[in-house]
Amino acid sequence: MKGTTKNGDNAIRKSKLGGKIVVITGASSGIGRQTAIELLDKGARTIILVARTESKLLELKQVLEARNGSLDLDIVNYSCDVSIKDDVIKMGTGIVEKFGHVDLLINNAGFGEFGKVQDQRIEQIENVMRTNYLGMVYCTKVFLSHMVDRHSGHIVNVASLAASFGVAGMAGYCASKYAMLGFSESLNHELHGTGVKITVVSPIGVKTNFFRNQSFDNHKPNYTGFMLDVRTVTKAILAASNSRRFEIIVPFYMRAGVWLKHTFPFVINPITGTLFRRQLRKPD
Ligand SMILES: NC(=O)c1ccc[n+]([C@@H]2O[C@H](COP(=O)([O-])OP(=O)(O)OC[C@H]3O[C@@H](n4cnc5c(N)ncnc54)[C@H](OP(=O)(O)O)[C@@H]3O)[C@@H](O)[C@H]2O)c1
Repeated sequence: MKGTTKNGDNAIRKSKLGGKIVVITGASSGIGRQTAIELLDKGARTIILVARTESKLLELKQVLEARNGSLDLDIVNYSCDVSIKDDVIKMGTGIVEKFGHVDLLINNAGFGEFGKVQDQRIEQIENVMRTNYLGMVYCTKVFLSHMVDRHSGHIVNVASLAASFGVAGMAGYCASKYAMLGFSESLNHELHGTGVKITVVSPIGVKTNFFRNQSFDNHKPNYTGFMLDVRTVTKAILAASNSRRFEIIVPFYMRAGVWLKHTFPFVINPITGTLFRRQLRKPD
């Protein structure tokens, strides 16, 4: 547990996140949960935690409050399904009414469903798109005008390397992350000169609850050796929140993989296709 000393308070006030109002979606687990903890450690004092599971948000709020050990902390839980537009509007309106604006929005809520397109129900593909892509759009829309009016703010969208590589068995998920990347790139151009920034963080596989989704049963990734520790990704998200870069790929050397894929797709696509098809063939 950390207490905050007088010197610590001064350091926090001077830190880039000191006094900032931060909203993070998907805060109840994995990357979002750890990001909230590190935001606190880096000086954020108003942290708004968004996810559907209220009990997990409450537990995290208690962890953050105990970790901080001082009274100047405002942790707010919002139980909200980001795939439901009206709920996001209600949440966003409530946040703006209470705090006036948001400085940093981290669109992190998301999930994946494993399975061949021909075997999946259309509703599974719709749900992934509604959460991962539209959820990000709803959250962005609800805070964007306030950011532009204040000429200040940063949006960090947690995409994936699946925004650059089509993965067999993950078509709906890849589509949602490709869509997120495309939307973010267009918005980045629109925001030029407004004082508002957007950065996409695109990690490869990360050790979280992501693969506990029932659809992954018997199809858990066999590339466990390459899976990132969650802290590697949260470090990138924190760097993103204060970066002028548009996309941060984690680990950084995978940028070479993306370049190779775009430059020599006829070489790379057959290789990735073979690798990922092996996953599909695993016995049920
Ligand atoms: N793990 C990986 O390998 C990996 C790799 C690249 C990118 N990512 C991306 O990283 C992000 C975080 O995933 P994670 O790995 O940390 O997985 P995780 O541990 O399963 O966490 C997912 C989070 O998203 C929330 N969420 C899911 N659906 C939601 C909805 N409809 N409304 C609100 N919140 C919702 C979950 O909370 P509730 O269930 O409580 O709502 C949970 O807090 C996702 O966008 C994922 O696509 C993950």
